Amino acid sequence: MAIRSAIVTVMIQAAYKAARGLVRDFGEVENLQVSRKGPADFVSTADLHAEKVLRRELARARPDYGFLLEEGGEVAGKDGNRRWIVDPLDGTLNFLHGIPHFCISIACEHDGDVVAGVIYDPLRDELFRAERGDGAFLNDRRLRVSSRGKLADSVIATGIPWHGREGHPEYLAQMEAVMGVCAGIRRLGSAALDLAYVAAGRYEGFWEPALSPWDIAAGILIVREAGGYVTEIDGGTNMIASGDVLAGNDRLHGDLLALLAKTRKG
Ligand code: IPD
Ligand code: CA
Ligand code: CA
Repeated sequence: MAIRSAIVTVMIQAAYKAARGLVRDFGEVENLQVSRKGPADFVSTADLHAEKVLRRELARARPDYGFLLEEGGEVAGKDGNRRWIVDPLDGTLNFLHGIPHFCISIACEHDGDVVAGVIYDPLRDELFRAERGDGAFLNDRRLRVSSRGKLADSVIATGIPWHGREGHPEYLAQMEAVMGVCAGIRRLGSAALDLAYVAAGRYEGFWEPALSPWDIAAGILIVREAGGYVTEIDGGTNMIASGDVLAGNDRLHGDLLALLAKTRKG
């Protein structure tokens, strides 16, 4: 069994605790689908409740750390060098529609670098985790990105922009380029799980523009610790700042980068 550090154990325990409420609430959503008001308010309460549990558990274990919370924003800690980056529910639209694909994502940042990441899918009981320099794991199995080296054999995940989001034409050009060369594209609706699935070798790659730090902080570390590469879509390395992400296995990340570069004008 893989040895876990104290910090990862804290993150896992917090995720398990918050997940219990999410699973219970997800059961309720199925009933609320048929009511006229729908489950929207209920889901935002479930999301807030999960964040509250995560914050309480993480603060109890490390009282001085700060937070970057999707719902609660930035919370300064006494220790100005360490903070938690938390998405209490990634895949909210799935949750809202009763689609069983969502997760909790927690990253621990030290001096601006993510040093540990946990992504937990409670419905499948799949816990993805990594610590810097220590490899990535799914439950207790060590992870390695897929070894497929041909785009024609690859499954590539993505996130498609929706109404009110910018960049639809640019995104459509990217989608056209990728769909023309790969075996299949998937849009499952949780960026954190998309990254975890690249780490697990289920996808050969994943790209999405305009994400937020809490969507990707843990997942980037998990992909890298599984032997994969993560950059911005244009090859830059400020993913947390820009929110643009291109992840891939070690054999195909470069090909995907080149393919997407061709879609840019000028
Ligand atoms: C969203 C999911 C989705 C991605 C969106 C994110 P949320 O997070 O990760 O897959 O396409 O950009 O905002 O809102 O479910 O926490
Ligand atoms: Ca999210
Ligand atoms: Ca969320």
